[in-house]
Amino acid sequence: MNIIQVTDYKEMSQKAAEVIIHKVKQGNRMNLGLATGGTPKGLYEAMIEDHQKNGTSYQHVTTFNLDEYIGLKEQDPNSYYYYMADSLFNHIDIPKFQTYLPNGLADDYNHECEHYDRLIKALGGIDLQVLGIGQNGHIGFNEPGTPFQSSTHIVTLEESTREANARYFNTLDDVPTHAITMGISSIMNSKEILLLVSGEEKADAMQKLLHGEISEDFPASVLKRHSHVTIIADQKALSGVLVSL
Ligand code: PGA
Repeated sequence: MNIIQVTDYKEMSQKAAEVIIHKVKQGNRMNLGLATGGTPKGLYEAMIEDHQKNGTSYQHVTTFNLDEYIGLKEQDPNSYYYYMADSLFNHIDIPKFQTYLPNGLADDYNHECEHYDRLIKALGGIDLQVLGIGQNGHIGFNEPGTPFQSSTHIVTLEESTREANARYFNTLDDVPTHAITMGISSIMNSKEILLLVSGEEKADAMQKLLHGEISEDFPASVLKRHSHVTIIADQKALSGVLVSL
């Protein structure tokens, strides 16, 4: 895993935007995997700013999001559908029909999970997947204990994950208990992975990722088996880690 050390959240966001914009500007059809949560917000802001200033076009880009809550309507401000529209898609020139998220309101969730993986494969696989990491090491909503060979599936969220995300909801009770997430093997099938990590609340997770063993108890550890992972991490996230360059 290649680690890029940066000073702070802003620099992490800028660097990540540079990596993505560079690829997008090459102009080839591209499948971009996207994430939600606090971590990629600054990245999306930087992409929007670049689109407005420099006109970088996303007409040839297709996006696949990692996950979605079960049971929230698209217009619910806490749905990831809404987050993506509001944080990125409404502000760049990507055609809406080229933006995919798992459907958290599907009639048949098994079918939806299979359909999502099939769709990614049929469109050529993900070229670059943006990831964040949970304090418990989750990637997407793959909580500790998720089999590494998992494909897209329904998960019961850990209490710690619901608590971490409760800041966006009125009360903890409003945070959904279930989500649909790309599986670990779905993520590992991406040709390239960009993991963004910022803040001292992620320092333990970074320490475990870089110095711990590969184990399903710490889902992100699987990334060590991927041949093309870049981590962009800020000083606070790296505060518990000895990184030798
Ligand atoms: P965060 O979440 O970006 O809101 O910290 C990351 C994650 O849970 O994967």
